Amino acid sequence: MSVLVKFGNRITLPLVTLGLMTFLGACKMDMPPGGSDPGDLENISYDPHPYTIIKPDHFPPVPIPPDNPMTMEGVQLGRMLFYDPILSADSSMSCSSCHLPQGSFTDNLAVSIGIDGIAGRRSSMSLLNVAYATNGLFWDGRSPNLEDQAMRPVEDPIELHNIWPNVIVKLKVHDTYPEMFRKAFGIPDRDSISKELAVKAIAQFERILISSGTSKFDQYQQGDLDVFDDEELDGKLMFFDEGEPLNLPDAQCFHCHGGLTLTGNQYFNNGLDSVGNLSEFPDKGRFDFTGNPNDQGKFRAPTLRNIAISAPYMHDGRFATLHDAVAQYADNGFGVINEDIFIGQMGFPIGNGQYTGLNNYQIGAIVKFLHTLTDTTFVNNPDIQNPFK
Ligand code: HEC
Ligand code: HEC
Repeated sequence: MSVLVKFGNRITLPLVTLGLMTFLGACKMDMPPGGSDPGDLENISYDPHPYTIIKPDHFPPVPIPPDNPMTMEGVQLGRMLFYDPILSADSSMSCSSCHLPQGSFTDNLAVSIGIDGIAGRRSSMSLLNVAYATNGLFWDGRSPNLEDQAMRPVEDPIELHNIWPNVIVKLKVHDTYPEMFRKAFGIPDRDSISKELAVKAIAQFERILISSGTSKFDQYQQGDLDVFDDEELDGKLMFFDEGEPLNLPDAQCFHCHGGLTLTGNQYFNNGLDSVGNLSEFPDKGRFDFTGNPNDQGKFRAPTLRNIAISAPYMHDGRFATLHDAVAQYADNGFGVINEDIFIGQMGFPIGNGQYTGLNNYQIGAIVKFLHTLTDTTFVNNPDIQNPFK
């Protein structure tokens, strides 16, 4: 009679029942790395504690997927995995290498550089309030949620350039991770550690990266009107198209960067490049995901919270300063056919669908307003810092 015996999750051997016990005994000593006894974590108690996300009162509830409830144990594990270079092939980089708290979880580079020193094609994105980004992740929206997103950097050939089976083997034999996985997810043994659970933990950690609600802008919104000086107020009024009574032009920004997180998470051509034909965009953006020719050169409007500390700007980091980024909008784009209509409507209308654009004072005032979105309390929050330091 022949039976199948599984060692770890790697080797399955047909065995003759006779002599099975001796064979098992012998094999146990050369168990493949990461193999484990069934139930080897069951003596560790599994008693997860619900995690209550701290958010400003004026922010809506944070969306949590039903199959990944937030627990203290899950968030703690996710925080470790986020900051641990164990995820990369040569143990040199972690998620945090490109997403640092000081840069609002960006790397402050034009484009990110992976473990082999090779530059990727896009700029790292801020993870502030990423839990609210439920209309696709990445500049082109190709990932549906944080769990799916967290799978990708590990096997990205430019980023962490690893493969998940290697990561899982390292986690299984680790001193502390098996116990943490047990406490977060109740797994019975080391062999049950999986990439699906690892990314759930990382996603739980990312969902706590919420604004503190203490920026100057939040204070103003809460009714503390004195926090803004005249220039900041002018900038705000133009940003939200509220400046007409004071003879300030519309800057149209809020149409795409509106709401509490200062983004509607929609996809636009915001008028960065002058192309004769849509197929000429050097990075086709949203088109790579949807295949819709009209999506060429469209990208997700990112949050502007903490924008003053997450330079450089745009999907390719083309602008070093906020002034350059805002000045780009001042001239009403290039009239490329899929440019959003608001891109051509900066300033005062002067007839025939033409607009004045924004002058230097107006650009400067908008930049000053953008600085009021800086949230240093968030950046310095001890709960989100590197746990290995
Ligand atoms: C080598 C640098 C690098 C590493 C390492 C890296 N990222 Fe990123 N991250 C980026 C870049 C660049 C983008 C934008 C890529 C794009 O749009 O194509 C991005 C985008 C994201 C986004 C999308 C944010 C949004 O608003 O859409 C999330 C979430 C994210 N990264 C989380 C992670 C996690 C979790 C890890 C570790 C498992 C990680 N990143 C590792 C550079 C990096
Ligand atoms: C039609 C929609 C739209 C309007 C209007 C708009 N933006 Fe944007 N904004 C975007 C998109 C889309 C991006 C990302 C484009 C890219 O990376 O290629 C972006 C990017 C930015 C960035 C860089 C963000 C980063 O993380 O790199 C800044 C800063 C910015 N916008 C500020 C403004 C300001 C200020 C205004 C008003 C003057 C404005 N935007 C008006 C859609 C818009």
